[in-house]
Amino acid sequence: MKTSIKQSFEQKNEPETTRPKKQEIPLLTVEGLTKMFPVTGGFLARMTGAGKEYVHAVDGISFEIHPGEIFCLVGESGCGKTTTARILAGLETPTSGRFKWKGEEVTHAELKPKIGDIKSQIVFQNPYSSLNPRMKLGDAVLHPLIIHNRVENETTRKILDKMKTAEISLAITYFLAILFAVLVYLPVANGSISLGGLGAISKSWIYIIIAIALILFGTINYVRLGQKKNRHADPKVLQMFEEIGLHPPEQYYHKFPHEISGGERQRVAIARAISLEPKLLIADEPTSMLDVSLRAGILDLFSTLRENHDLAILFITHDLATARHFGDRVGVMYVGKLVELGDVNTVFDSPLHPYTSALIDAIPIPVPGVREYDLPEGDVADAVHPPSGCRFHPRCKYAQDICSKEEPILTEIKKNHWVACHFPLSK
Ligand SMILES: Nc1ncnc2c1ncn2[C@@H]1O[C@H](COP(=O)(O)OP(=O)(O)O)[C@@H](O)[C@H]1O
Ligand code: SF4
Ligand SMILES: [Mg+2]
Repeated sequence: MKTSIKQSFEQKNEPETTRPKKQEIPLLTVEGLTKMFPVTGGFLARMTGAGKEYVHAVDGISFEIHPGEIFCLVGESGCGKTTTARILAGLETPTSGRFKWKGEEVTHAELKPKIGDIKSQIVFQNPYSSLNPRMKLGDAVLHPLIIHNRVENETTRKILDKMKTAEISLAITYFLAILFAVLVYLPVANGSISLGGLGAISKSWIYIIIAIALILFGTINYVRLGQKKNRHADPKVLQMFEEIGLHPPEQYYHKFPHEISGGERQRVAIARAISLEPKLLIADEPTSMLDVSLRAGILDLFSTLRENHDLAILFITHDLATARHFGDRVGVMYVGKLVELGDVNTVFDSPLHPYTSALIDAIPIPVPGVREYDLPEGDVADAVHPPSGCRFHPRCKYAQDICSKEEPILTEIKKNHWVACHFPLSK
């Protein structure tokens, strides 16, 4: 009997058809995740709310991610992959949807990285904008550890404490300096003080000298501590640089983002994301902005980290070849909907959805004349006015009457293989 994914979430204890691939509680269960972005109209429309329209960025998708698995989310640009990632990383609020963490219902907000309970972290697509250009690489990786109070090394902690005190005393000394500078213009600065045989000095000069001395004292103290901090490298961060393949780590620690390549930047972003030892890493097209020559290295790094840290990875990509090579399971999205879900090998060897099949057929093969392109005709549907029934029907060569009238439900029609199509393909 066919089982819809919604039913499977409700029938928790039912064996076989509704259980995930591995016989264990999923790390993350997403049910009916929806995000509608309001389309900003003109002033009148905004005031009256008339004709309010929404971008159906993510529209009721449900999936699970298991401990230690790589779940790939694929689909053409604009289908809602990044929005899904951002919601799961706590950067966007869903319009509706439920979340379970290790089987227990949590609110969306609880998925956000919190002090002491780091569930997930995100690696962004663009390594050129995800690192602060004014922050040294070591500090960038150390930063989340400081925020979450997870710095273990005693020396690092002492230096950080001293820096904090130095910042406060710098602010106080500057404040006092301003105060003395202001005194120069007040009546208290009138007159002078005798220096015995050396003559006399006017009070205003004394105030100026005190103000300058305070500024010098505060600044020198702060700079001296800053230099000490710059000579120190936190051992945990060094160890992480080793792990992500930045050798020698001491050199990278004190470099700025502009001094390293895009691939190295992405490695630093990954190190920063795993520094708090999350259970789930969300990677939104982490290789798409890198040179082809660097991509394999980053994918290998993800694999190694998954093994070493028992990390689950939500890997978002528009590149099906990468998903096939890298993922354990794959979900295919089309205009905010999940249209196919299953083990990577099953989905790629025998896709059930015409859209998945077309995407697979369009994977380039580097042999001239071998590929017969079978890309679906037409553009990706408008996410503000998605087509009725099956959203893929205007492009689908198998579409029939029902397809434009009735929305197909994501259904498990083979074990662990789900599809949302009225006429699933057979091999
Ligand atoms: N902040 C936003 N406001 C309005 N529309 C948005 C916003 N973010 C994304 N969208 C729209 O939501 C849809 C899905 O976008 P996105 O999740 O970035 O897709 P993908 O990552 O698959 O390319 C697109 O139509 C996009 O234009
Ligand atoms: S439901 Fe109909 S239009 Fe949609 S993919 Fe299946 S056959 Fe094509
Ligand atoms: Mg995206």
